[in-house]
Amino acid sequence: MPDRSRPSKKLISRARVQKRIRELAGSVSRDYRGRKLVLIGVLKGAFVFMADLLREISIPVEVDFIQVSSYGASKTSSGVIKIKKDIDLPIVGKDVLIIEDIIDYGYTMDYLLRFLKAKKPKSVRVCSLLDKTERREVQVPVAYRGFEVPDKFMVGYGLDFAEKFRNLPYIAHLGA
Ligand code: IMP
Ligand code: MG
Repeated sequence: MPDRSRPSKKLISRARVQKRIRELAGSVSRDYRGRKLVLIGVLKGAFVFMADLLREISIPVEVDFIQVSSYGASKTSSGVIKIKKDIDLPIVGKDVLIIEDIIDYGYTMDYLLRFLKAKKPKSVRVCSLLDKTERREVQVPVAYRGFEVPDKFMVGYGLDFAEKFRNLPYIAHLGA
């Protein structure tokens, strides 16, 4: 068993994360100029990324959050995804960008895309800080991707393991 009590070595430094977030925010600001953009952060993991991203976005945005049932302390999906907290803002006719910390199998984002599309926004796209592309089981379109990461359990910059490590100012992974 790998030691899960503390993160191993740093994978992506704070400086690299922040540089990449500035680049993503630049693309978002260009792509959505003159539109009605709503950023919807997926709680809890996306809150750090979202806070940094939106302060680098130079166009007006509305902000909301959604929360789904998560893996909890286990690393395997329960298979059942439920909405714990819905958005408050109306999104009919607006451009929605879902802000996520990481996409793994893709089940969560696939569910969120369906759930939000049912509210009839003008468009819905995905912006994820991290992407474990090689683990994907359900294909989801990712319009903005911070970093592709290896098949390891990632923590820091909002991402947790059993609620710990969200406050690390860089991205690390557990185990060897
Ligand atoms: P998916 O449904 O497998 O794509 O799972 C995505 C969700 O699982 C994300 O929103 C994360 O909350 C969580 N998750 C998946 N991989 C990791 C990881 O490496 N570190 C922390 N959370 C993860
Ligand atoms: Mg999450």
